[in-house]
Amino acid sequence: MRKIVVLLLVLAAAAAAQPYFKPADMMTIGVYYYPEAWPSSQWARDMANIRKLGLEFVHMGEFAWAFMEPEEGRFDLDWLAKNVELASAQGLKVVLCTPSATPPVWLVRKHPEVLMVDAGGRRMEHGSRTQACWTVPRYREYVAGIITRLAERFGQDPRVWGWQIDNELSHYSKQYCYCDFCQEKFRSHLMRKYGNIAKLNDAWGNAFWSQIYQDFDQIRIPNQAELVQQINPHAQLDFQRWFAEETADYIRFQAETLRRHTRNQWVTTNYMALHKEVNPALSARDLDVNTWTHYPVHGNLNEGPLGFRLGSAPDMSFMHDFMRALGKPHGLMELQPGQVNWGDVNPQPYPGAVRMWIMRAFAAGANLVCTYRYRQPLFGAELYHYGLAGPDGVTPTTGGHEYAWAMKDVRILRQLYKADAKEPRAYAARRAGFLYSYDNRWDIDNHKQTARWDTNAHLMKHYRALKRLGAPVDVITEEKDFAGYPFLVAPAYQMADGGLVERFRKYAEAGGHLVLTCRTAQKDRNGHLWEAPWAGPIHDLIGAEIPAYDVLPAPVKGSVMAGARAYDWAAWGDQLKPRAGTTVLARYADQFYAGTPAATTRKLGKGTVTYIGVESLAGELEYDLLRRIYTAAGVATESFPPQYVVDWRDGFWVATNFSEKKLAIPAGPTAKIVIGTREIGPAGVAAWVE
Ligand code: GAL
Ligand code: ZN
Repeated sequence: MRKIVVLLLVLAAAAAAQPYFKPADMMTIGVYYYPEAWPSSQWARDMANIRKLGLEFVHMGEFAWAFMEPEEGRFDLDWLAKNVELASAQGLKVVLCTPSATPPVWLVRKHPEVLMVDAGGRRMEHGSRTQACWTVPRYREYVAGIITRLAERFGQDPRVWGWQIDNELSHYSKQYCYCDFCQEKFRSHLMRKYGNIAKLNDAWGNAFWSQIYQDFDQIRIPNQAELVQQINPHAQLDFQRWFAEETADYIRFQAETLRRHTRNQWVTTNYMALHKEVNPALSARDLDVNTWTHYPVHGNLNEGPLGFRLGSAPDMSFMHDFMRALGKPHGLMELQPGQVNWGDVNPQPYPGAVRMWIMRAFAAGANLVCTYRYRQPLFGAELYHYGLAGPDGVTPTTGGHEYAWAMKDVRILRQLYKADAKEPRAYAARRAGFLYSYDNRWDIDNHKQTARWDTNAHLMKHYRALKRLGAPVDVITEEKDFAGYPFLVAPAYQMADGGLVERFRKYAEAGGHLVLTCRTAQKDRNGHLWEAPWAGPIHDLIGAEIPAYDVLPAPVKGSVMAGARAYDWAAWGDQLKPRAGTTVLARYADQFYAGTPAATTRKLGKGTVTYIGVESLAGELEYDLLRRIYTAAGVATESFPPQYVVDWRDGFWVATNFSEKKLAIPAGPTAKIVIGTREIGPAGVAAWVE
């Protein structure tokens, strides 16, 4: 308990140290605006209308390089300065961006080598966005040039609040670049990492299929498009690591370039939710604010009958819990305002959903929410994309009204803000650390062993269970101390080493409740199996051996029993052999190994270690077993239905209902309801003070 308090104090101190977000404001809301796309005669009107919605900041310039530098070396920032002035006149703060996602055509015609090369060896072209490769030194020179101009002009301007670097750094569906500069930089990275080629041959297991290299110069980026059979998974992993580090290096380069000229302005970049190629944890030190982008509704059907209009509560919450746990101010830089244009089918969000998402961000501790975008575009690839104003440029859409509504909610809560509000004990007691690793996601996905395995879905089954139990969750990486968390869940943590296993052991011995799941510690950090029994390093920790695992081809389902209840499974099932002192929680009920244990738990020191070796189809087994672990630890839980999330923030309980049902809020009889009512329907929000 004391450790929890220390952790919270450290987090609170870190939050208080930053000057950009006042704790009493809790959260602020803003919107993207593209002055370059509208007649200058409309700018002032648009800014005034943004203010009328109650919003507090505008975001501009991330795709405007051709307007900022219409010809090489000729800069025009006056139009932007005018908009900073107009925004400020309305009391709106300004977020400016580096325009590196959209190089102007003169640049790429003069230096075609800055254009990325796709897996098929084709050089990408001007005519869309994100076509440049950020590894190419020449591109970085030009980026430095435009950023420096921007920062010289606006870096000391108090009306400019912060900066966004690039936009959703990625090459979208093209993912990686295979240009000569990337090839070369990857090779020199490998040279630095391994020192000599023999070490690389070992790490990549190149004795397999005569893949041995004699020299670093012979290496090319592993690329399935140029390989006859399966890619080398270890080479692939090293490349994914390099790409993420290279992207972090680019973020750092932009942040440092900006900071040479800025004063009292924050720097962020907007990560794509759950996107796999770029790892936000690598840039946590380089940025002042961590932000991400989220479009909950784009034809996705996986969350109950109304999921396609309400989105996924666990997906959204997971990313918030990851961003917040990076330890800086955080929030949503893009949130859907209404229908989007890029899904296969782009339905309307449920009435109230947009406002509910904003309040979910609030409950998750976000410091800012910004929406993409103010006006619906009349031309371009995204012209079916909604905005806060419709095609006439002035009439608020449903989304526009809902942003205004959320801003009113926030103002109600601000009036009731109490700086000394204490986190409720029962809530804190349920806090879980959720150990998350990009390395593991890459390695598992490179080599799944069964097409029915979905890494994200596996993580989400455990995460979703925690939220249904009413637990506050921090999605953390290995750099974090585990000690502050009463519960630590590390699903499918495939690559491990002795040091990590030792940290797990100490964590449990000191009183923590550790939950591991199938695939954990199967491999070392290079993604090799151990020369030991299967997943050998964790046998002592979990108090069981794992002699075998099974996976079932579709449409076969297996059955597993826990207590009196049967659950279907299909993706992965470890067959466990518990040692003395280990309790069986679940057993297979069919297949030739019926009766074999599938999940176990044991006491270790003052804590416990649970191993859930099977993934159930619906995630209900994970939910029931996690509840059992909490109960055995003497910690009371909630029993929320899926898609219902309740969290506490700054003195307020906030419930958000992403489900199709009408649900009661878990407020005590004397609670003061400040937003909503004691029962909330689909897209409903309630906030209360106990
Ligand atoms: C985001 C992107 C924006 C815009 C938006 C449309 O992913 O960052 O620039 O394209 O999608 O929904
Ligand atoms: Zn490249």
